[in-house]
Amino acid sequence: MTPTDWLWVLHPALAVLLVYPLLGMVLRLASQTRQRRVEKVKLPPTVGAEHADLGRWLAAAVVAIELIAIAVVIATKTPSELTPGRSGLLLLVLAGTVAALVALWRSREAIYRASFALLCWAGVIGLGMQPEVWRLSDNPLDPAFWQSHFWGGIGLTGLMLFSVAARPEILRHLRWRRLHISANALAALIFLAQGISGPRDLLEIPLSWQKPAVYACDFANKVCPPPAPAQP
Ligand code: HEM
Ligand code: HEM
Repeated sequence: MTPTDWLWVLHPALAVLLVYPLLGMVLRLASQTRQRRVEKVKLPPTVGAEHADLGRWLAAAVVAIELIAIAVVIATKTPSELTPGRSGLLLLVLAGTVAALVALWRSREAIYRASFALLCWAGVIGLGMQPEVWRLSDNPLDPAFWQSHFWGGIGLTGLMLFSVAARPEILRHLRWRRLHISANALAALIFLAQGISGPRDLLEIPLSWQKPAVYACDFANKVCPPPAPAQP
């Protein structure tokens, strides 16, 4: 493992160590919030607030690990294409995306919450659309699109940011609560899919020093050039 390989491991490691344990807690508290409200099960009145507080951390963690993955890919894949001008612009978008997340976390008025959530999502999408970031397919009519780890991540980020932005409305209005449940039932499924497509990608991406040999293979026909004869 070279230092570059370790950088590529950062994102999967944080997903396993940070995001999925948080998801478990958020899901457990979500079910308790509902049991307490609908089935009148005796549970502490704090479960709802704790669900939303940890939910906010979950959303921030998802954005953070995506930004790490995308930044690592852009910085290490083809460094020769990173001119100072382009690097500066990309760093500016990265800083803006993080600033939008912080601002979303802090703002109270609905219009600001909606705007900062959209800005943050746009930042993640903008960075993700850079040519270095490989995606299975960009066409929703193509089955490969629905197996894409990248597009799953983008969809998930949108749903998480939507929940954070609409927190006061979910708390106050039953309609928003229902919308939140439907949106996040979908999010839970996407989390499941990311947990499968991520390890799949990890298996497919070779270590940096193996890349020239592995990328010489024909991926469509699943054949590789014969190994070079051993030196006498
Ligand atoms: C996978 C992620 C999530 C799932 C499956 C989920 C699911 C749920 C469920 C089932 C409820 C209870 C609804 C009811 O009472 O009928 C709920 C409530 C709520 N959720 Fe989430 N949620 C998720 C993430 C989030 C996030 C990221 C936030 C953002 C802060 C959030 C904010 C809230 C709020 C404010 C409530 C109302 C709490 C209360 O009644 O005190 N949720 N959620
Ligand atoms: C919440 C769950 C996750 C989300 C939202 C997510 C999202 C993303 C995004 C947006 C990218 C950048 C685009 C790309 O290069 O494909 C990416 C890359 C990647 N993800 Fe994930 N991911 C998640 C979980 C995982 C898990 C559990 C693994 C493996 C155990 C994983 C492995 C990878 C790998 C190998 C890459 C390639 C780039 C790199 O490693 O830095 N991901 N992910």
